[in-house]
Amino acid sequence: MEPLTNISLTGKTALITGGARRLGAAIAQGLAQAGTNVVIHFNQSEADAVSLADTLGKQGVQAWTVQADLQNEAEVGGLIDKAAAMCASIDFLINNASVFEESSLDTVDEMQLLKNMKINAWAPLILARNFSQVMPAGAIINMLDTKVLGYDREHLAYHLSKRCLNDSTKILATELAPDFRVNAVAPGLVLGPSGKGETYLKDLADTVPLQGYSGPEAVVEAVLFLLRSAFITGQTIYIDGGRHLHGSFYG
Ligand SMILES: NC(=O)c1ccc[n+]([C@@H]2O[C@H](COP(=O)([O-])OP(=O)(O)OC[C@H]3O[C@@H](n4cnc5c(N)ncnc54)[C@H](OP(=O)(O)O)[C@@H]3O)[C@@H](O)[C@H]2O)c1
Repeated sequence: MEPLTNISLTGKTALITGGARRLGAAIAQGLAQAGTNVVIHFNQSEADAVSLADTLGKQGVQAWTVQADLQNEAEVGGLIDKAAAMCASIDFLINNASVFEESSLDTVDEMQLLKNMKINAWAPLILARNFSQVMPAGAIINMLDTKVLGYDREHLAYHLSKRCLNDSTKILATELAPDFRVNAVAPGLVLGPSGKGETYLKDLADTVPLQGYSGPEAVVEAVLFLLRSAFITGQTIYIDGGRHLHGSFYG
């Protein structure tokens, strides 16, 4: 048996869920710069998805857009086939789409928990399973959150769903080996929530060990590294200025 050597991204194809805006769009741009074709999944951001695909197409890669509501079980179930029909082969799946809403122990209800679990945990799991059944080999990245090691009491339903995705990453890495690698990237302080912007990051910068914040490019670098790394699976890279080191469950 030969040693596993790093994988070239050039000429491969990635499906990125929630790829039209923010971190998903940055990952799509980073992959395109590495020569990877991209299928940009969107739910509501069709104009952004089409515009991004147009831009990336002009940069020399192929780019497609595909719509699916990840809260809808039938649409989740059909997404891999729908994307594969456009581009013939998918090499990478980036489970990036997510819902991020406030909820606490006092306010959370069953509907909210189910919504978060469906979009943030169930859809990535089913997409990974379907991807592994349709394609002979590939790599998957799940987007987690630095707080999976602690507790986010203001986003309880979201937090529980990301914890589920954290465990799913390790389960999938075990179940889908050796043909599929499954890794995760856990950001924190790389992009403020919609409407809050950089002020949000600046205000929190002194709460992390590295006393600062970053931009999406650090997340993109981690995604590219994990996709290339043929001998890494079941791993999580925290892009968070050391936030996860706080270690306290309530931190
Ligand atoms: N931003 C950060 O600093 C940060 C920190 C920790 C973790 N993360 C994680 O990193 C990833 C990207 O972060 P982000 O802030 O860029 O994400 P985001 O803007 O909150 O959401 C990304 C996309 O998810 C899609 N989405 C939401 N509900 C959906 C549904 N029902 N069906 C299909 N798609 C749906 C949306 O697509 P449409 O717009 O097309 O509807 C949205 O644009 C997420 O998994 C997030 O949890 C980010």
